[in-house]
Amino acid sequence: MKTTIFTRATVNNAAELIKQGELVSFPTETVYGLGADATNVDAVKKVYVAKGRPSDNPLIVTVADPETVSKFATVTPEAKKLMDKFWPGPLTIILPIIPGALSMNVTGGLKTAAFREPDNDATRELIRAAGTPIVGPSANLSGKPSPTTAQHVLHDMDGRIAGILDDGPCRVGVESTVIDMSSDVPAILRPGAVDEEMLEPIIGQVATDKHKVGAKETPKAPGMKYKHYAPDAQVIIVDELSQFPAAIAWAKAKGYDFGVLATDQVLADYAAGLPQYSLGQDLTSATRDLFAGLRYFDLHPDVQVVLAQGFDDSGFGAAYMNRLGKAAGGEHFAD
Ligand code: TXA
Ligand code: MG
Repeated sequence: MKTTIFTRATVNNAAELIKQGELVSFPTETVYGLGADATNVDAVKKVYVAKGRPSDNPLIVTVADPETVSKFATVTPEAKKLMDKFWPGPLTIILPIIPGALSMNVTGGLKTAAFREPDNDATRELIRAAGTPIVGPSANLSGKPSPTTAQHVLHDMDGRIAGILDDGPCRVGVESTVIDMSSDVPAILRPGAVDEEMLEPIIGQVATDKHKVGAKETPKAPGMKYKHYAPDAQVIIVDELSQFPAAIAWAKAKGYDFGVLATDQVLADYAAGLPQYSLGQDLTSATRDLFAGLRYFDLHPDVQVVLAQGFDDSGFGAAYMNRLGKAAGGEHFAD
């Protein structure tokens, strides 16, 4: 299959492919998604095949306006408040579905479904022109970092999908916050750019411990139990900037071929002459560029170990540390 690149100017052609039951990757403010008509069972099947994704992992229903959600789910007053405040934006809301309104291969057999209106005009035009909501998992091969550019999508999906709607690099860089509004106490199942401190003034207390899924429990967000973002190299998190000299000395002493994934100041201070990828200036740019950095080192198979900069694990930092923690398999440098 030939994978055609579309732009906002040719969005109607991309929408035709969606109508025909084909897959088109779409841009969002978080990461690129893999779009298919959410009401077409055969089209949704193709998403699992293209990604190599386990079929018990439910998909997000991506909409161009909040009103569409009520065709499929019960929108509680609290959920409505969240939509008013944060949509379009990086918040995915889990709601009880109207029985029979969505196919099993969208919901993974659950009585709930995830809904999201992304903050991207090209994608909202795509959905409107297709006349249907689209499912939207991240457009990476299962287990690889989510794509934040059309080039990343092409790398993973060339020949596997009909098209990519290219709207440049993603602004946020990690996937949306997932909040479960179907339970008694709302729970953050996946941290993202909309954090606890932003949610609580709108809906009161939210639980945040549920995304720490133990091996034996049934995870609330089924996707959280799979291995994610696994780069070919071993990633090791360096939590304090002051630990970088010791971490670099350790990697040298071990004889590893290693690289550094860190902000400009760290690279300038400690990493001259080493393989490296810049995370920009601060937490915001680091979050935006994290997945691109992990993919960069995958293209350099000689690098066996990546020393990656940690940030404070609170507020927006929770999203960055959650994804980096998965990439590192929980490995932190200890001196
Ligand atoms: O930012 C994003 O959310 C991106 C962009 C493309 O919109 N999409 C994305 O989709 O990250 P995906 O499929 O990679 O992640 C969706 C997560 C998975 O962990 C999935 O298990 C969980 O949401 N999920 C979906 N439906 C659910 C449900 N009914 N109950 C609990 N978790 C659910
Ligand atoms: Mg994903």
